[in-house]
Amino acid sequence: MVYARSIAISSLLSVCTFALPSSNVNRRDSLLPLSTSGRDIVDSNGDIFHYAATNWPGHQEAMIPEGLQHASVEEIVSWFPKFGLNSVRLTFAIEMIDDIYSNSTNQTLEKTVIGALGEPNGTIVLDQILANNPAFTKQTTRLEVFDAVANELAKQGVVLHLDNHVSKAFWCCGENDGNGWFGEKYFNVDNWIRGWSYIAKHAKENWPTFASVGLRNELRNAAESEPVDWYTWYVHMTAAAKAVHEADSDALIFFSGLSFDTFIDPIPLGKALNGTNGTSTAGKSAVFNPSDFAFKDKIVLEIHKYDFEATQDDCPTFKSQWYEKGFQALNASDPNTRFLFPMVLSEWGFIQNGTYWNQTTYNKCLIEMVEDWKFGWMQWELSGSFYLQTRPGRTPATIQGLEEAWGLVDYNWTTVRSPITVENSLDKMIAALK
Ligand SMILES: *[C@@H]1O[C@H](CO)[C@@H](O)[C@H](O)[C@H]1NC(C)=O
Ligand SMILES: *[C@@H]1O[C@H](CO)[C@@H](O)[C@H](O)[C@H]1NC(C)=O
Ligand SMILES: *[C@@H]1O[C@H](CO)[C@@H](O)[C@H](O)[C@H]1NC(C)=O
Ligand SMILES: *[C@@H]1O[C@H](CO)[C@@H](O)[C@H](O)[C@H]1NC(C)=O
Ligand SMILES: *[C@@H]1O[C@H](CO)[C@@H](O)[C@H](O)[C@H]1NC(C)=O
Ligand SMILES: *[C@@H]1O[C@H](CO)[C@@H](O)[C@H](O)[C@H]1NC(C)=O
Ligand SMILES: *[C@@H]1O[C@H](CO)[C@@H](O)[C@H](O)[C@H]1NC(C)=O
Ligand SMILES: *[C@@H]1O[C@H](CO)[C@@H](O)[C@H](O)[C@H]1NC(C)=O
Ligand SMILES: *[C@@H]1O[C@H](CO)[C@@H](O)[C@H](O)[C@H]1NC(C)=O
Repeated sequence: MVYARSIAISSLLSVCTFALPSSNVNRRDSLLPLSTSGRDIVDSNGDIFHYAATNWPGHQEAMIPEGLQHASVEEIVSWFPKFGLNSVRLTFAIEMIDDIYSNSTNQTLEKTVIGALGEPNGTIVLDQILANNPAFTKQTTRLEVFDAVANELAKQGVVLHLDNHVSKAFWCCGENDGNGWFGEKYFNVDNWIRGWSYIAKHAKENWPTFASVGLRNELRNAAESEPVDWYTWYVHMTAAAKAVHEADSDALIFFSGLSFDTFIDPIPLGKALNGTNGTSTAGKSAVFNPSDFAFKDKIVLEIHKYDFEATQDDCPTFKSQWYEKGFQALNASDPNTRFLFPMVLSEWGFIQNGTYWNQTTYNKCLIEMVEDWKFGWMQWELSGSFYLQTRPGRTPATIQGLEEAWGLVDYNWTTVRSPITVENSLDKMIAALK
């Protein structure tokens, strides 16, 4: 999610009665592990599984899932089945794992919330979190909060997809924000791989519906980093995937593309993944061939699509342009497709304000594309508000209690922000998978 996508609004929308779609969620853990078969994700019975998810951020400064000052873990998790979703993309920061390795004293709820929000606001928010979640104490650690979330997700039958959103914990993503490309200021590759080894093992042992990982969110250009090219992508992404697979051989592994994960076509097309002349990767090249890897039946490609161009394209145009960005992975009859992979649209969304869904053709064409091609998706996002958002280079640089106008729930995480938007987007995206 790039900066431009988060819009703070000052006035609140009135919320009407919401007719929930009937829940089609069963206990999913019996369907795990997932694996891949050509263009499909299949469950343990061999039936096709489609992710129908929303994002729940847990990667920002406090490094715990958002919303706990407004509601209990149980109440927040109940939104997934209420919306008819079967899964969540839960995001985390590598900094959380780095702090485990360094035995940082900042890992307790008390220290992490006050560290993020300062005194006195941090104390107020901490008290609200503890009041809503009496099982937590000031000494509960961030990882224990994730454990409680994971256990509640399992209890309510929600599949857990764990996404590494950032290294340093703050809002993602801007170019040159330090988190964007291998070797950039905060993106230490060794710590990232160590972090994956740690958390994949922990998740396998402790989180009953843990099913998959997203290795890294929205890789993007950086001025000071390792060379930004597909060869560098290949080297590091396959190393991290190997680490995940060694820690949990059951987990699906999602690979994201370049330029904020807006294209990944060189992978299904089996193109040479080249280095960059004049840099350390000059003359180097590799091909991402799934049969080279122990995790060959665990590979999923992920892509993001927003509507920054406020598209008015007709759907055939919209779909054919987007097809070229990587959906060749789903098309066995395309002669240019060398390797088939499942694709998951791991971020899509727009402002939940009651009218936007009908102002451009994005929503309509997205639904049509899911109907035609049948691929899983993850809406951006559940949160009605954030503990804090840091926005380097903008004024103010941090905002506490920022409202998220794109969130499915309202500021206080108590009601659906825009029922008419949900009826016309989320509900139809779910129906499109049937
Ligand atoms: C953290 O604590 C563990 C267990 O007490 C210890 O083995 C390890 O060396 C410590 N790490 C650091 C960086 O202090
Ligand atoms: C603990 O958090 C504080 C406040 O965010 C920070 O200044 C300090 O460097 C952190 N210490 C460690 C060991 O991470
Ligand atoms: C890598 O270079 C080869 C040879 O120039 C070219 O055919 C191929 O398209 C390049 N790969 C990508 C992903 O651009
Ligand atoms: C990079 O170097 C190769 C081999 O030396 C050459 O064929 C290619 O044209 C160069 N590419 C660019 C973009 O300069
Ligand atoms: C799949 O590839 C075939 C052959 O190129 C093409 O006719 C068809 O339109 C493609 N499917 C989609 C959905 O683009
Ligand atoms: C919803 O947001 C869009 C895009 O910012 C805007 O054009 C439209 O007027 C908004 N609708 C309402 C009801 O505020
Ligand atoms: C907006 O809704 C109307 C009525 O349902 C529909 O005819 C029109 O195509 C929609 N516009 C867009 C851009 O989806
Ligand atoms: C603390 O919270 C108050 C009330 O919500 C807010 O106005 C203020 O900006 C917050 N302080 C900081 C440092 O963000
Ligand atoms: C959130 O809930 C609080 C406490 O009930 C209430 O005072 C406040 O007006 C609500 N805020 C919004 C933005 O709905």
